Amino acid sequence: MGDDNRQLHRAVSKAAYKRRSHIYYAAMSSFTPSETAAAPAFAGPIKSLRLQALPPFLFNAIDDKKRAAIAAGKDVINLGVGDPDRPTPQFVIDAMAKAAAEPANHQYPDCYGTADFLAAAAEFMQRRFGVKVDPKRHIVATIGGKDGIAHLPLGVLNPGDGAIVFTPAYPVYASASGLAGAVVHKVEMTPASGWRPEFSRLTPSIIRGSRLLWLNHPGNPTGATADVALYEQALRFGREHSIIVASDLAYSEVYFEGGQASVPSMWQAPSADLESSRAIEFHSLSKTFNMTGWRIGFAVGHPEVIGALKQVKDNYDSGVFNAIQAAGAAALRRFDDPAIVDMRSEYRIRRDIAVDGLHAIGCHIAPETGPEAGIFVWGQCPVDSSTGKPMNSWRFVEKLIDEAAVVTVPGAGFAETASDWFRLSLTRQTPRLREAIDRLTRLKF
Ligand SMILES: Cc1ncc(COP(=O)(O)O)c(C=O)c1O
Repeated sequence: MGDDNRQLHRAVSKAAYKRRSHIYYAAMSSFTPSETAAAPAFAGPIKSLRLQALPPFLFNAIDDKKRAAIAAGKDVINLGVGDPDRPTPQFVIDAMAKAAAEPANHQYPDCYGTADFLAAAAEFMQRRFGVKVDPKRHIVATIGGKDGIAHLPLGVLNPGDGAIVFTPAYPVYASASGLAGAVVHKVEMTPASGWRPEFSRLTPSIIRGSRLLWLNHPGNPTGATADVALYEQALRFGREHSIIVASDLAYSEVYFEGGQASVPSMWQAPSADLESSRAIEFHSLSKTFNMTGWRIGFAVGHPEVIGALKQVKDNYDSGVFNAIQAAGAAALRRFDDPAIVDMRSEYRIRRDIAVDGLHAIGCHIAPETGPEAGIFVWGQCPVDSSTGKPMNSWRFVEKLIDEAAVVTVPGAGFAETASDWFRLSLTRQTPRLREAIDRLTRLKF
């Protein structure tokens, strides 16, 4: 290895070590093709530096404990995952079966979405939120919400650009932005703000150089909802600082007392304009229609932002199987079907069981009556009798696995401000949830 290459190699390794992907990209970009070709075989780890630069997956320890409990023959109740237990509605399965039998659907799909799926998504936006969109220019079909979320940064961020993530948050906003070479600015939300973003926390050094800001309401893991005013604030902020706003509305149809209006679309904000607001909103059919395994969603946004995502997808995938798109269209057209109303009622029953039980063991729940939307209950761990303070969430979650064979997720894995909070999922059958709560009420803290 020549001196230049050795120096470069050191800079790249240092950047990976410091998890500073933008330095890594800057260093990599100074390789010339001939230098790269002349370099000897790389003897280091198999994983690319961009993967090594990702933060470690903090929940491995919990997964190991869960597996060990199962291997030990314990009757484990997993309230850690957000994967609906209820089946996909029959009318969706029927639409899929019909479309799957159609030979024309066996070929490559319409990558950006079939005309019918895009029309159904546009109808959904109009009927559900009163937002009028042009299906061709403003919508793209995605392979579940995660596909769109994970690929957007590659389309709109340059290495070294900033991406703002309010935490605690779904981890993909940060990891996908990091994989695209961005500098990820994690800005913590707090219980005092109801786990909602505070734009006053964004310092000039964060704002300078940032090009993307992520939002997610109803939130995973917090369940916090956003009103139209919050979206308006985000869009104005984005406009003022030339930052693209990406909002994840994966849980739009799981709402309780507040009804539909408690979960608005960002595109309902007064100044929102699909032609001029550089923003995008991700929708998913996974949770609304119990379709996590089917992999379908869509994004609605500014034509250039949608165009960037389409171009990335062109290079990475070939779209969603047309028969699944047909099923997705059928689902979206019946988003107010009794099956969906029934699903919401069931989640509400489960939420109340969980909230009552958690109160009984001394947890503080925010809001006190439980989440207004979403599939998670977000609670503060009970007070540890030996310290007089709420338990650390790692200890609490481990105790629940060890002593009750109930799996939940520690807030500490999401944000410092959530170190004594935990997430409990409502996606297990009601009798199992009841059983889990019974077990918890027998524990001593
Ligand atoms: C907030 C949030 N967004 C997006 C997703 C991705 O869902 P899917 O890819 O199944 O649409 C999840 C999954 O858990 C999530 O919690």
